[in-house]
Amino acid sequence: MIGRLNHVAIAVDNVERASAVYRDALGAKVSTPESLADHGVTVVFVELPNTKIELLEPYGENSPIASFVAKNPSGGIHHICYEVENILEAREQLKASGARVLGDGEPRIGAHGKPVLFLHPKDFCGALIELEQA
Ligand code: CO
Repeated sequence: MIGRLNHVAIAVDNVERASAVYRDALGAKVSTPESLADHGVTVVFVELPNTKIELLEPYGENSPIASFVAKNPSGGIHHICYEVENILEAREQLKASGARVLGDGEPRIGAHGKPVLFLHPKDFCGALIELEQA
C-alpha cells in the first residue's frame, strides 16, 4: 500500500537554528520558514535528491508538537510520511487491520496542500506515521 517516503519530520525549538545546521553544516537546500496557524507549526522544507526533511517548530498556543519539543529539547524525529495513492482506501484497509487513525479520522490538508492522516505510533513500531495522498 505505501509508496515513496515523502519526508521525515524533525521537531525543534528553533527552526532558524535547525535550518542553519542543514544549510551550513550539511550543505542542503532549505526553504524560508513558513508559519501554518492551522497546523500549529512553523515549517522549513529541506530538499534532498530522493526525499525531503521537514523541520518543525511549535507555533501558537496549542501547537500539537509543543509537548514533544518540551520532552526533546535538542530536537528529535517526530514523524515519517509515506505516500499513498488513495488516502480513503488506505484508511479503510488500515482500520480493518486494527490500526488506529488519530484525530477524528478524516483526512486534513497537510503542509504540502495534500490530504493527510496520522496513525498511532503504538500500532507502527513506535513511530508516528503520516500518510499523504500523492
Ligand atoms: Co509531515
